[in-house]
Amino acid sequence: MRYFVITGHRAYSTPDFKLDDICGGAGRLDVLVRCVTSAFFLSHDIRRDTQVYLVLQGGSDAPKTVRFSGEEIRYLNPDERSTASLIRNALLKKVPPEGEVRSSPGVYISRMSFEDVMASLSGKGELVYLKEDGTDVRDFSFPEDPVFVLGDDRDLTEEEEAFLLESSPARICLGPRSLHANQCIVVVQNEMDRAE
Ligand SMILES: C[S@@+](CC[C@H](N)C(=O)[O-])C[C@H]1O[C@@H](n2cnc3c(N)ncnc32)[C@H](O)[C@@H]1O
Repeated sequence: MRYFVITGHRAYSTPDFKLDDICGGAGRLDVLVRCVTSAFFLSHDIRRDTQVYLVLQGGSDAPKTVRFSGEEIRYLNPDERSTASLIRNALLKKVPPEGEVRSSPGVYISRMSFEDVMASLSGKGELVYLKEDGTDVRDFSFPEDPVFVLGDDRDLTEEEEAFLLESSPARICLGPRSLHANQCIVVVQNEMDRAE
Protein backbone atom coordinates (compact mmCIF):
# COMPACT_ATOMS: atom_id res chain seq x y z
CA MET A 1 0.00 0.00 0.00
CA ARG A 2 1.12 3.58 -0.65
CA TYR A 3 0.01 5.99 2.07
CA PHE A 4 0.03 9.79 1.83
CA VAL A 5 -0.50 12.02 4.87
CA ILE A 6 -1.06 15.72 4.13
CA THR A 7 -1.31 18.31 6.89
CA GLY A 8 -4.07 20.81 6.09
CA HIS A 9 -2.96 23.60 8.38
CA ARG A 10 -6.00 25.82 7.88
CA ALA A 11 -8.34 23.39 6.09
CA TYR A 12 -11.86 23.47 7.50
CA SER A 13 -12.99 20.77 9.92
CA THR A 14 -16.63 21.89 9.61
CA PRO A 15 -18.91 21.71 6.55
CA ASP A 16 -19.84 25.40 6.53
CA PHE A 17 -18.06 26.37 3.32
CA LYS A 18 -19.18 26.88 -0.24
CA LEU A 19 -18.06 24.42 -2.89
CA ASP A 20 -17.43 27.48 -5.09
CA ASP A 21 -14.95 28.87 -2.56
CA ILE A 22 -12.76 26.02 -1.34
CA CYS A 23 -9.65 28.10 -1.93
CA GLY A 24 -10.56 31.04 0.33
CA GLY A 25 -13.54 30.07 2.46
CA ALA A 26 -12.41 26.55 3.34
CA GLY A 27 -8.82 27.26 4.38
CA ARG A 28 -7.05 26.15 1.18
CA LEU A 29 -9.02 22.94 0.95
CA ASP A 30 -8.32 23.20 -2.80
CA VAL A 31 -4.73 22.14 -2.09
CA LEU A 32 -5.91 18.97 -0.35
CA VAL A 33 -8.50 18.22 -3.02
CA ARG A 34 -5.81 18.35 -5.69
CA CYS A 35 -3.71 15.99 -3.58
CA VAL A 36 -6.55 13.45 -3.64
CA THR A 37 -6.94 13.71 -7.42
CA SER A 38 -3.19 13.44 -7.97
CA ALA A 39 -2.84 10.45 -5.65
CA PHE A 40 -5.60 8.35 -7.21
CA PHE A 41 -6.16 9.21 -10.84
CA LEU A 42 -4.49 7.52 -13.76
CA SER A 43 -5.62 8.35 -17.27
CA HIS A 44 -8.21 5.56 -17.36
CA ASP A 45 -8.10 4.07 -13.91
CA ILE A 46 -7.86 4.68 -10.17
CA ARG A 47 -4.91 3.57 -8.07
CA ARG A 48 -6.33 0.92 -5.75
CA ASP A 49 -3.01 0.57 -3.86
CA THR A 50 -3.19 4.09 -2.40
CA GLN A 51 -4.65 5.67 0.71
CA VAL A 52 -4.73 9.40 1.44
CA TYR A 53 -5.11 10.97 4.87
CA LEU A 54 -6.13 14.63 4.92
CA VAL A 55 -5.51 16.09 8.37
CA LEU A 56 -7.87 19.06 8.73
CA GLN A 57 -6.54 21.49 11.30
CA GLY A 58 -8.62 24.61 10.66
CA GLY A 59 -12.07 25.72 11.76
CA SER A 60 -13.90 25.27 15.02
CA ASP A 61 -13.99 21.46 15.29
CA ALA A 62 -10.37 20.53 14.52
CA PRO A 63 -8.66 18.22 14.30
CA LYS A 64 -10.39 15.80 11.97
CA THR A 65 -8.96 13.43 9.41
CA VAL A 66 -10.62 12.36 6.18
CA ARG A 67 -9.22 9.11 4.80
CA PHE A 68 -9.64 8.03 1.18
CA SER A 69 -9.09 4.34 0.44
CA GLY A 70 -8.39 3.43 -3.18
CA GLU A 71 -9.47 -0.18 -2.62
CA GLU A 72 -13.04 0.85 -1.86
CA ILE A 73 -13.45 4.30 -3.35
CA ARG A 74 -16.53 5.12 -5.40
CA TYR A 75 -18.00 8.40 -6.68
CA LEU A 76 -14.54 9.94 -7.00
CA ASN A 77 -14.30 12.11 -10.11
CA PRO A 78 -11.39 14.14 -11.47
CA ASP A 79 -12.98 17.55 -10.91
CA GLU A 80 -12.17 19.48 -7.73
CA ARG A 81 -15.76 20.35 -6.89
CA SER A 82 -17.00 16.78 -6.58
CA THR A 83 -14.01 15.75 -4.43
CA ALA A 84 -14.63 18.77 -2.19
CA SER A 85 -18.22 17.60 -1.98
CA LEU A 86 -17.10 14.14 -0.77
CA ILE A 87 -15.07 15.88 1.96
CA ARG A 88 -17.95 18.15 2.91
CA ASN A 89 -20.31 15.16 3.10
CA ALA A 90 -17.83 13.49 5.46
CA LEU A 91 -17.75 16.65 7.59
CA LEU A 92 -21.55 16.55 7.86
CA LYS A 93 -21.29 13.23 9.75
CA LYS A 94 -21.43 13.07 13.51
CA VAL A 95 -17.94 11.91 14.47
CA PRO A 96 -17.37 10.09 17.78
CA PRO A 97 -14.24 10.83 19.85
CA GLU A 98 -12.74 7.45 18.86
CA GLY A 99 -12.88 5.46 15.63
CA GLU A 100 -13.81 6.24 12.05
CA VAL A 101 -17.18 6.81 10.42
CA ARG A 102 -17.74 5.89 6.76
CA SER A 103 -19.40 8.72 4.85
CA SER A 104 -19.36 7.11 1.39
CA PRO A 105 -17.61 4.07 -0.11
CA GLY A 106 -13.88 4.53 0.52
CA VAL A 107 -14.24 7.81 2.44
CA TYR A 108 -13.88 7.82 6.23
CA ILE A 109 -13.78 10.55 8.84
CA SER A 110 -12.35 10.54 12.35
CA ARG A 111 -11.17 12.94 15.01
CA MET A 112 -7.56 11.88 14.54
CA SER A 113 -4.89 14.55 14.86
CA PHE A 114 -1.63 14.46 12.92
CA GLU A 115 -0.01 12.62 15.84
CA ASP A 116 -2.91 10.12 15.97
CA VAL A 117 -2.61 9.42 12.25
CA MET A 118 1.10 8.83 12.59
CA ALA A 119 0.48 6.46 15.48
CA SER A 120 -2.24 4.58 13.56
CA LEU A 121 0.12 4.05 10.62
CA SER A 122 3.18 3.12 12.64
CA GLY A 123 2.71 -0.63 12.25
CA LYS A 124 1.53 -0.44 8.64
CA GLY A 125 4.47 1.04 6.79
CA GLU A 126 7.72 2.98 6.80
CA LEU A 127 7.72 6.74 7.16
CA VAL A 128 9.07 8.84 4.31
CA TYR A 129 9.23 12.60 4.86
CA LEU A 130 9.09 14.62 1.65
CA LYS A 131 11.40 17.55 2.13
CA GLU A 132 13.37 19.74 -0.23
CA ASP A 133 16.67 19.10 1.63
CA GLY A 134 16.36 15.30 1.71
CA THR A 135 18.17 12.52 -0.15
CA ASP A 136 17.55 12.55 -3.90
CA VAL A 137 14.58 10.30 -4.69
CA ARG A 138 16.61 8.67 -7.47
CA ASP A 139 19.12 7.40 -4.90
CA PHE A 140 16.37 6.04 -2.69
CA SER A 141 14.94 2.53 -2.50
CA PHE A 142 11.24 2.74 -1.73
CA PRO A 143 10.07 0.53 1.12
CA GLU A 144 7.23 -1.92 0.52
CA ASP A 145 4.51 0.13 2.24
CA PRO A 146 5.70 3.74 2.30
CA VAL A 147 3.91 6.35 4.40
CA PHE A 148 4.69 9.68 2.71
CA VAL A 149 4.26 12.80 4.85
CA LEU A 150 4.08 16.29 3.38
CA GLY A 151 2.77 19.79 3.99
CA ASP A 152 -0.08 21.51 2.14
CA ASP A 153 0.77 25.00 0.86
CA ARG A 154 2.95 25.36 3.94
CA ASP A 155 5.65 23.15 5.37
CA LEU A 156 5.03 21.06 8.46
CA THR A 157 5.11 23.22 11.60
CA GLU A 158 8.15 22.96 13.87
CA GLU A 159 6.07 20.87 16.30
CA GLU A 160 4.82 18.50 13.58
CA GLU A 161 8.30 18.10 12.18
CA ALA A 162 9.80 17.47 15.62
CA PHE A 163 7.14 14.82 16.28
CA LEU A 164 7.75 13.15 12.93
CA LEU A 165 11.54 13.18 13.34
CA GLU A 166 11.21 11.26 16.61
CA SER A 167 10.32 8.26 14.41
CA SER A 168 13.46 8.71 12.27
CA PRO A 169 11.74 8.79 8.87
CA ALA A 170 13.61 8.57 5.60
CA ARG A 171 13.84 12.11 4.17
CA ILE A 172 13.70 12.47 0.42
CA CYS A 173 13.86 15.30 -2.08
CA LEU A 174 12.04 15.05 -5.40
CA GLY A 175 14.12 17.51 -7.39
CA PRO A 176 15.82 20.89 -7.33
CA ARG A 177 12.62 22.98 -7.15
CA SER A 178 10.03 23.39 -4.43
CA LEU A 179 6.81 21.86 -5.76
CA HIS A 180 3.13 22.07 -4.91
CA ALA A 181 1.96 19.27 -2.64
CA ASN A 182 -0.10 17.57 -5.36
CA GLN A 183 2.82 17.80 -7.79
CA CYS A 184 4.97 16.01 -5.21
CA ILE A 185 2.41 13.20 -5.12
CA VAL A 186 2.39 12.81 -8.91
CA VAL A 187 6.19 12.66 -8.97
CA VAL A 188 6.35 10.12 -6.12
CA GLN A 189 3.70 7.88 -7.67
CA ASN A 190 5.57 7.97 -10.96
CA GLU A 191 8.95 7.26 -9.34
CA MET A 192 7.42 4.30 -7.53
CA ASP A 193 5.82 3.03 -10.74
CA ARG A 194 9.19 3.20 -12.45
CA ALA A 195 10.96 1.44 -9.58
CA GLU A 196 8.48 -1.44 -9.48
C1 LIG B 1 4.09 23.84 -1.38
S1 LIG B 1 5.26 23.00 -0.41
C2 LIG B 1 5.34 23.97 1.06
C3 LIG B 1 6.05 25.28 0.93
C4 LIG B 1 7.41 25.18 0.28
N1 LIG B 1 8.37 24.44 1.11
C5 LIG B 1 7.97 26.55 -0.07
O1 LIG B 1 8.97 26.94 0.51
O2 LIG B 1 7.38 27.22 -0.92
C6 LIG B 1 4.36 21.61 0.19
C7 LIG B 1 5.15 20.44 0.66
O3 LIG B 1 5.62 19.71 -0.45
C8 LIG B 1 6.82 19.05 -0.13
N2 LIG B 1 7.81 19.43 -1.15
C9 LIG B 1 7.76 20.49 -1.99
N3 LIG B 1 8.78 20.45 -2.84
C10 LIG B 1 9.49 19.33 -2.56
C11 LIG B 1 10.68 18.74 -3.11
N4 LIG B 1 11.35 19.29 -4.12
N5 LIG B 1 11.11 17.58 -2.58
C12 LIG B 1 10.44 16.98 -1.55
N6 LIG B 1 9.32 17.50 -1.00
C13 LIG B 1 8.86 18.66 -1.49
C14 LIG B 1 7.19 19.43 1.29
O4 LIG B 1 6.69 18.43 2.17
C15 LIG B 1 6.39 20.72 1.47
O5 LIG B 1 6.06 20.93 2.82
